[in-house]
Amino acid sequence: MKRKVLSAILSAAMVASMLVGCGSSSSEAPAAEAPAAEAPAAEEEAPAAEAEAEAPAAEETAAGGGLIGVAMPTKDLQRWNQDGSNMEEQLKAAGYEVDLQYASNDIQTQVSQIENMISNGCDLLVIASIDGDSLGTVLAQAKENGIPVIAYDRLIMNTDAVSYYATFDNYMVGTVQGEYIRDQLDLDNADGPFNIELITGDPGDNNAKFFFGGAMDVLQPYIDSGKLVVKSGQTSFEECATANWSTETAQSRFDAIIASNYSDGTNLDAVLASNDSTALGVANSLAANYTGEYPILTGQDCDIANVKNMIAGKQSMSVFKDTRELASQVVKMVDAIMKGGEAPVNNTKDYDNGTGVIPSYLCEPVFADVNNYKELLIDSGYYTEADLQ
Ligand code: GAL
Repeated sequence: MKRKVLSAILSAAMVASMLVGCGSSSSEAPAAEAPAAEAPAAEEEAPAAEAEAEAPAAEETAAGGGLIGVAMPTKDLQRWNQDGSNMEEQLKAAGYEVDLQYASNDIQTQVSQIENMISNGCDLLVIASIDGDSLGTVLAQAKENGIPVIAYDRLIMNTDAVSYYATFDNYMVGTVQGEYIRDQLDLDNADGPFNIELITGDPGDNNAKFFFGGAMDVLQPYIDSGKLVVKSGQTSFEECATANWSTETAQSRFDAIIASNYSDGTNLDAVLASNDSTALGVANSLAANYTGEYPILTGQDCDIANVKNMIAGKQSMSVFKDTRELASQVVKMVDAIMKGGEAPVNNTKDYDNGTGVIPSYLCEPVFADVNNYKELLIDSGYYTEADLQ
């Protein structure tokens, strides 16, 4: 009943309320760097979160909470553990019960978990999909039951059951990586040519296309002019994709690339890697097979292993996406929807999931390297010094 009303209000009120200044509200949320304890929650109510201070309209006092299903893709990658535990902690602090599930990167497992959340009577779903195209059927059930859906970090495609999307600016992640390579190689002034290889993420993850597209919008002109040379010849998204963002898959692809193109002492000058798990595979492959000058190597997420590599000179940069900030933004969305209002968004044009543009909130990704990681990651409480030893 309550859900039907919620969903009616939601669809009627889907006009976006613009909220300027992403990132301004970042870290009042409690730091939670401990890898997730998976236990599905059933705790007492905590006091309403201070993080709501700048919540949109003046709402009534603390609603009676509700059950929020949080579906995460995998525990294999560090970031999703943090996303899950941040969401759980912040939702509980805002007075909600949480059913948090991880799906081991198995699409069918994620579908069943979402089915269970629906049949267990959850009031709202927050989903970081494994494959953006595989949730249409189960989300049709959510819609029938009047359950709003927030796509978390990754857009869920080709279903009209998605109410909102919260993420980091994925295209900007790619341009930051591409510009870093451009500037480090001084492509506008140096003679070159320079050798570069490219690696991106899972083809079923809508973000991967944004990351790769953003970076290639910067780099392609230099490839076209011959200043950047991709000796492997692998430049299309499909050729550079990495199933499940797997470190091992990235490593074996680079083993082959190095064996065929760089084993004779030819220098590899730069590697565009869309994220840290693939960058780790590249670094492992370089360590095992490559004897030339160490290339510029990009990444994303500031995973601990990669920050250690940055400190050790084995990765040049990463893009920091503060998972506390994304969680706090999504909790604001949840709270607004649960109270019958509109969720705060700041982008209503870029993320069309095939059924129309999904109102989105984009947080701002931040450049990280060996010079600023302390301030960014340690001073902010994201990691401790000891985490990075
Ligand atoms: C993307 C996400 C990245 C990275 C990658 C691998 O969707 O935005 O931050 O973690 O998946 O899981």
